[in-house]
Amino acid sequence: MRILVGVLICSAGALAQQVERGDTLYQQQCAGCHALKGKGTAVGPDLNGMARLTSQAIAMAVRSTATQYVQSVKLKAGDTIVGMPGPKDDKTVSFWDLGKKPPELRKMDKGDVAASTNTDAWKHPPAEAKIEAEQLADIVAYIKYTATGSKRAVSPDEVK
Ligand code: HEC
Repeated sequence: MRILVGVLICSAGALAQQVERGDTLYQQQCAGCHALKGKGTAVGPDLNGMARLTSQAIAMAVRSTATQYVQSVKLKAGDTIVGMPGPKDDKTVSFWDLGKKPPELRKMDKGDVAASTNTDAWKHPPAEAKIEAEQLADIVAYIKYTATGSKRAVSPDEVK
């Protein structure tokens, strides 16, 4: 019994440390573009929904260089921006300009857009930077813990 309690306390301690490391990494590398439990800027998709998936699935999405939503937006004024669609209503549309660091929300009249098409020209920053498995494991543990209360540590092997 004493041994079992010891193991439990020890693994809880390891998880707490992993979540703390993941929190720091997430604030540095992800929070500028993703909201999680109301914190962070929602440029990219909200991560609360994804958090219920397996660590492998989350890691695959982070490492993916394919895009589902990012658009190449040609404006009638002449310039083209690579942007993530933001809030819109009957008359206006908006895009997070991914060429800006941090991304800037640009709101415009629907009529200002000449054409908007899917593009793979933009690469997800953690994929581009080839994020290390150790760091990604900490970040995934933080996301899961924060969004779902999951108390399971994530090993780097799960997110390679
Ligand atoms: C410069 C902004 C930016 C940064 C920084 C960024 N992301 Fe993203 N992320 C996006 C955008 C935009 C998408 C959507 C891409 C698409 O599919 O078109 C995305 C997609 C994702 C997805 C897939 C979500 C889904 O529902 O399909 C996950 C998971 C994710 N990011 C996690 C992360 C993590 C973790 C980090 C930090 C290590 C991070 N992102 C850093 C902008 C960013």
